[in-house]
Amino acid sequence: MTKLDNLFEKNRAWANRVKTSDPDFFEKLAAQQSPEYLWIGCSDSRVPANQIVGLLPGEVFVHRNVANVVVHTDLNCLSVLQFAVDVLKVKHVIVVGHYGCGGIRAAYEHGDNGLIDNWLRNIKDVQYNHQERFDALQDKEEHLNLLCELNVTTQVANVCSTTIAQRAWKRGQELSVHGWVYSLKDGLLKDLDCTVDRIDQVPDEYRIR
Ligand code: CO
Repeated sequence: MTKLDNLFEKNRAWANRVKTSDPDFFEKLAAQQSPEYLWIGCSDSRVPANQIVGLLPGEVFVHRNVANVVVHTDLNCLSVLQFAVDVLKVKHVIVVGHYGCGGIRAAYEHGDNGLIDNWLRNIKDVQYNHQERFDALQDKEEHLNLLCELNVTTQVANVCSTTIAQRAWKRGQELSVHGWVYSLKDGLLKDLDCTVDRIDQVPDEYRIR
């Protein structure tokens, strides 16, 4: 059996490098975390949260799943969101999609991928709900990029329609929910300008009173 010795070696080298630049780094971090950001991103190995925004351990709380989906019945994602907002008091929740997402492509195409198709159904719904936007574009690449962006804006709305975000706003807690897309081709993030930071931006049907 392979023991993944290479990973332990890399780990020791990394810990040494960090300690060399800041001898107290791990002791300080072990005492507490106080990240300002919750990153909800794709599981894709090419989209690592900390590295993309140049943040150190301790600076960003992270939830990742296939195609960065926020579903109101997903206990995992909701637990992360609730802990981040209520306990850690993060100021920003950032939903980050990425162009070239395999999950988005699988949802767009009509293949049979097994269990995961049930998860990707959430993305098919996004496409179905914006058919006219897709009809206006011919190219498959353009369709995939559009679906990637609409998926992000939909998941931003899903974060905002949770009781977690809305209760935070109602008690006066500072909280902004953002939607970004990352490009694998140049390593750059794009803001989709769909930030929500007040409960009155939530559609009435989804608002708690
Ligand atoms: Co992806």
